[in-house]
Amino acid sequence: MSFQNIVEEIMSTHHNLLRRELPKISELVKAVTAENADNNSLKEAQQIFEKVRSKVEAHLRDEETILFPTGIALECGGTAVPTEMNLLERLHEMEKEHDGCGNALAGVCQTIIDDAQASELKEQLLATIEVVQEDFVAHVEKENTKVHPMFIELLAARS
Ligand SMILES: [Fe+2]
Ligand SMILES: [Fe+2]
Repeated sequence: MSFQNIVEEIMSTHHNLLRRELPKISELVKAVTAENADNNSLKEAQQIFEKVRSKVEAHLRDEETILFPTGIALECGGTAVPTEMNLLERLHEMEKEHDGCGNALAGVCQTIIDDAQASELKEQLLATIEVVQEDFVAHVEKENTKVHPMFIELLAARS
């Protein structure tokens, strides 16, 4: 599979899923926190989730506007998208973000399991987080083991 095919598949499945599900989780976390109004660890989990969400959204933007278009252009012999970004550094940072966001989301999930009182909303929230976590594993695996090595090769071939 070409770089272009892989990243197009990633955007249409995994990135779309995140854009659809993360706002739902924000709403549900807010509602569950409201149901447990005197619980500070849930308030903290809500703040952590919102930080993770912004991190993921910025990460997707960098992939979709810089890294993926650059790899696609290089693959068909074109030139890289002009950017101030150090692409190899950003790639390395992105792998750390894959781990960091996965771990932070697992922590949020555990706090909800431990601290939220049983309710319909809690079940919905946990089910939605689970959908995202499962998809995230497949998404990160494709990027770390296929997209990033291919991108590094394309960059090296250019210089
Ligand atoms: Fe991605
Ligand atoms: Fe990524």
